[in-house]
Formats: sequence, C-alpha cells, structure tokens
Amino acid sequence: MTADAEALDAGDPLARFREEFVFEDGGPLYVDGNSLGRLPKRTQERLAALVDEWGTALVRGWQEWIDLPVSVGDELAESALGARPGEVVVTDSVTVNLYKLARAALASRPGKTAVVTDAANFPTDRYVLEGLGCELRLIGADPVEGPGVADVEEACAPGDVALVSLSQVGYRSGALADLPAVTEAAHAAGALMLWDLSHSAGAVQVGLDEHGVDLAVGCTYKYLNAGPGAPAFLYVRSALQGQLRTPIQGWFGQRDQFDMDRAYEPADGVVRFLAGSPQILGLVAVRAGVELVREAGIGAIAAKGRALTAYAVELHDEVLAPLGVELGTPRDPARRGAHVSLRHPEGWRVCRALIERAGVVPDFRRPDTVRFGFPPLYTRFADVREAVERLRGVLERREHLEVDAAYTRVT
Ligand SMILES: Cc1ncc(COP(=O)(O)O)c(C=O)c1O
Repeated sequence: MTADAEALDAGDPLARFREEFVFEDGGPLYVDGNSLGRLPKRTQERLAALVDEWGTALVRGWQEWIDLPVSVGDELAESALGARPGEVVVTDSVTVNLYKLARAALASRPGKTAVVTDAANFPTDRYVLEGLGCELRLIGADPVEGPGVADVEEACAPGDVALVSLSQVGYRSGALADLPAVTEAAHAAGALMLWDLSHSAGAVQVGLDEHGVDLAVGCTYKYLNAGPGAPAFLYVRSALQGQLRTPIQGWFGQRDQFDMDRAYEPADGVVRFLAGSPQILGLVAVRAGVELVREAGIGAIAAKGRALTAYAVELHDEVLAPLGVELGTPRDPARRGAHVSLRHPEGWRVCRALIERAGVVPDFRRPDTVRFGFPPLYTRFADVREAVERLRGVLERREHLEVDAAYTRVT
C-alpha cells in the first residue's frame, strides 16, 4: 500500500511556497521544472519594475546594476551553495563558465596533462573539456548510479590528472554523486575538482566550502527558477582565486575597469572571472529565485525532494514496473536529486503521448528516458501520484503507439 498523497501534502512544511509561483488555470501537470523552473510571482513584478527603471534611469542605472553579478552571487553562495561571500559570481552560461574554470585549472597545473569526466556527463561539459585540447579521460560509470570514488581513483591513478570535472546530479539518471568523497579522491591524486551543480543548486545541499571543493558552475533556470536563458554562476574557492587566471580577459574582470588605458590586470577575487556586460534582467530574476530558496531553507527543500522522489519510486514499483517501465534513478534516497528517470523502450513516444494526450509535461533524454522532475518548492505529493496515474493510463491504453515517432527540435 503506497502512502496517502493528501496526508503527505497536509504535513508538508513547504506547502505555502506553491502560492509563490504562477500556475495557469487548466494548465498541464508540469513535471519539467528540472529543465525550466516555474515563474515566481515576485519575478513577474520585479522584471516589470526593472523594465520601467530602464526606461527612466537609462545609463544611470548602471551605478546600481553593475554590482549585481557579485551581490546576487553572494546571496546564492549563502542560500544554496554553502559558500562564502566573494566566492560566487552570477554571469554568462554554464558552458562559458565551465570553459573559463577548466582552462584556468589546467594552466595552474603545469606538467599534468589529463582531464577526467564521466562519459555520461552532460554534453556541453564533455564538449568543452574535449575542446581544451588535452587528454580527456572518460569514466564509464554505471548509467544509473553514476560515477563514484573508485571510478575517480582509477582514472587518476597514473598521476597526470590536472582536473576532475563531474556533475553532482546526473542530468539523465538524477543520481547524486558523493561530492565529499569524490572531491577528496581528486585532491589525493593532486587534481583540482570542478562540479557542475546545474541539477543540484536549489534542490540539494551542496556544502562547497565544507567539502573543500575547488571550482563549480551551475544553471539558475532549473531549481532556482530564474527563467529561460538566465545567467549561470561560477564558484572559485577563496584560497585558489589568486592562483587562477581566466582565459577570457574581459573588462569586467579587470582591476580598474574604467581606467581604460591600462593594460589588462586581473581584479582581485572571483570578480576576475567576469568577462563582459552582465545580463541585468536575468540577474534580477536570479535574485528573486534565490530569495525563495533562502526563505524555504535548502535543508527543508532537499528533505522534501528526497520524500517526493521516494514516493515516485514507490509508485513506480507498484504501478509502472508491471507495465514495462524501468527505474533509471538510484533507489537510495540519499543518492538522488529531485528528478526521477523512467526508462521505457518507447520512451520518446511515451513522452509525446503524455504531452499530447494526457496533459502532462515531462521531458525526454535519448535513448529511452522520460524525466519526471519534482521541484520541492511547488510540487505536491498529489502531483507525483497524478503524473504516475496519467502515465499508467497512457501505457494501459497503448496511446504512445498512436503518436508521431519523429523527434521534435527540442525533446
Ligand atoms: C548538467 C548541465 N550542464 C550544463 C547545462 C547547459 O548550461 P548552459 O546552457 O547554461 O551552458 C545543462 C542544461 O540543461 C545541464 O543540465
């Protein structure tokens, strides 16, 4: 007998945060907040106010706007990442930030020529690391459980690794890596450790400072709900900042930005990893999303994420496994982020049928994974049950066999 969703919702200490988000009347059951988070109501208001401010303040607005990458970075560091002020900036995309940090890390380890990542890491991570031109050593980790300490130790054994770069939560599997132990293994091998926190920031506890992480990057448009294309963040441990140089020497990372005849000299601190003009609209949205995480508390968010995914796993076993669905996410709640992966040989058509016939919006990752994301701030246990029930209906009626099998541009 599975738990009663209504009873779980009634006991949910975060239930009131659902009111903070925009829900369309009669809209679909949205389980893709792990890809693009919902719109917070306060963001709607703040963006409108910022547009008005732009209209009247014009260029004078920069007196205030210019510090947002740093001040919003400080807020994010404290609320969601377990980092200190001065260690995080909000800027650019994950892809660009990963390049800046990986290139800087490599340059700081002369004589070490290899970089390690997981073969199942997010494509942009693999592409950027491959583009560095050094040896890219791929871990062939278990596709459900993700990379572990033994994988990292083995990859680093030759002693030539400058950098280990992994995702804390796997984008396909939802597996949560053992960040403290893996970071320690990288350090024991003389390598720096860079984590991609795209699927963990705002969903799980990270503890960057506590665990001695060197470098990190991540998205703000997933569990931080900052909107499509909102700027990403990067973290550099304070003790390392003076030793690393960005490969993108832009004027926002320059020591005295408006003394324009000076030669390039990196600013002190993490600011040196800024490059060009910050995206102010996006930063205002990141600030609002981070505020919500601070108000709810990342500990409570992570605990609810574990409970939601545990409920989904329970329902999977009872309802979906007999219909040919396989769980693609670890069973141990301590090893999960806030989404679950449901594998089916016809996964793409199952995903299309959910969207077109059942009013559920998940997403799909080839070859066979339908992802159900349960952002703790606005997902109810009843939503988890309803999503599973509608999936059951699609499979029982074999509706997935009636939809177009051609991939759309975005899956
Ligand atoms: C793990 C991970 N890294 C990086 C990215 C891409 O980030 P960006 O488009 O900001 O470069 C994503 C996007 O979903 C992601 O899931």
